[in-house]
Amino acid sequence: MTIALDPTREFVRTKAPGPKMVPVLGLIRAARRDPLEFFSRMAREHGPVVRFEAGLHPLHLLNSADHIAHVLVQNHKNYVKSAYYQKVRPIFGAGMFVVNGETWKRKREFAQPAFKRHKFDSLADVMTDCTADMLDRWEGARNTGTPLDVAAEMMQLSLRIVFRAFFGTDFQGRMTHMTEALTVIMEEGERRIWALASAPTWLPTARNRRLREALRTFDECVYELIELRRREGATGEDLLSLLVAQNMEAGEAAISDGELRDDLMTLIIAGHETTAMAVSWSWYLLSRNGFAAGALREEAQRVLGDRPPTAEDLRELVYAKQVVQESMRLYPPFWTISRMAVEEDEIDGYRMPAKSTVMLCPYVTHRDPNLWDNPEAFDPDRFSPARSAGRPRFAFFPFGGGPRICIGANFAMMEATFVVAMAAQRFRMRLVPGQDVAPQPMISLRPRSGLLMTLH
Ligand code: HEM
Repeated sequence: MTIALDPTREFVRTKAPGPKMVPVLGLIRAARRDPLEFFSRMAREHGPVVRFEAGLHPLHLLNSADHIAHVLVQNHKNYVKSAYYQKVRPIFGAGMFVVNGETWKRKREFAQPAFKRHKFDSLADVMTDCTADMLDRWEGARNTGTPLDVAAEMMQLSLRIVFRAFFGTDFQGRMTHMTEALTVIMEEGERRIWALASAPTWLPTARNRRLREALRTFDECVYELIELRRREGATGEDLLSLLVAQNMEAGEAAISDGELRDDLMTLIIAGHETTAMAVSWSWYLLSRNGFAAGALREEAQRVLGDRPPTAEDLRELVYAKQVVQESMRLYPPFWTISRMAVEEDEIDGYRMPAKSTVMLCPYVTHRDPNLWDNPEAFDPDRFSPARSAGRPRFAFFPFGGGPRICIGANFAMMEATFVVAMAAQRFRMRLVPGQDVAPQPMISLRPRSGLLMTLH
């Protein structure tokens, strides 16, 4: 339970329980070796609030749905994006994901109209066209019995979908070039998140030169497209056209080209790997659960027959949506979210000092036996309305919550539901035996060594 902060009262308890006498570096090493196991164990051993001595300011892992609501919703003004997010600024720029305060508010308000649900309806065709292309290509692999790394396939597909949805093009001749540039940019972003310290990007190291080259490729393409949209009057349905049109309407530019570039980079990075992983984990879990795979196939055939889905079908593809939700429960693509307390706060009687970090871990909360029956089991039906009734709002928060909830949640759910249903229309997917499938927590939670499957 959260207690309103009263400056005159003494704190009930000053320090939350946590691992004792562990030197900071030892702790960091343990957390980095297997963060999912480490934070799950900490929550099991120490309860809803776990304190880590992390240098100047402590870090608290919050595991109760009430405490998560306190940070993301009730007292969100006191919790800004932590230093963890700032590490990627030199690469991804000052996009909506990392900035705070008025800058964030202006960016979010500017982009929000383009993310209204009905805007995505026109994107349904983009999603289903790109998916059908991929599945057509899969027919070859099915005929020859060649295993496919379906996680890599899904990354390619979701990148193509965001390019077409955001820019109205899949860059034809330049797609490979753009994909390679983005791969370098993401690899470097990931490295920086995990590194204790990173060299500034202006230092002439080989790694930095490679990064600068990739950023130049990305920027050239994006600025060219912004300019093209402006010249053409920005009448298209793609997100860039909507944003450029909004900017032109606002008279003098509401948002500069540089800011627009940072937000587009953010949307691409935040939007493609996460969705790809939600679908990949769905395929993995379905391959191990014949009942769920059968129920999904039955629904796809009943609702769609042989045709591709449309936006109207989303309401009917109930089980496909539950499969995606249940996969994101077990393998939340954003496995951790963190914030920094601006002013001192109190949670569950414990002091959260100003400038200290709070960590929310969907991976841990989504498997909490106090919130979920048989939490390790894959059971899509637990998201049916009857079984969801009474569940705390923050028992499940793959898209975060409060004002900073994922802006692309509807987009992602639509894409993931379509892809899962369309694959079930055409294939049964089997995991190639002998693989050690384990989640690797990078920017998103991905299968460590890919996901080899055969199609039937
Ligand atoms: C299954 C797919 C996705 C998952 C699991 C996911 C998850 C999240 C989460 C947890 C946050 C909040 C992070 C925090 O509070 O620190 C977030 C924010 C964000 N996401 Fe997503 N996301 C997904 C897909 C997308 C897509 C498709 C887009 C773009 C079209 C997108 C764009 C963003 C942006 C721009 C933010 C920052 C919003 C803000 O701070 O106002 N995401 N996402």
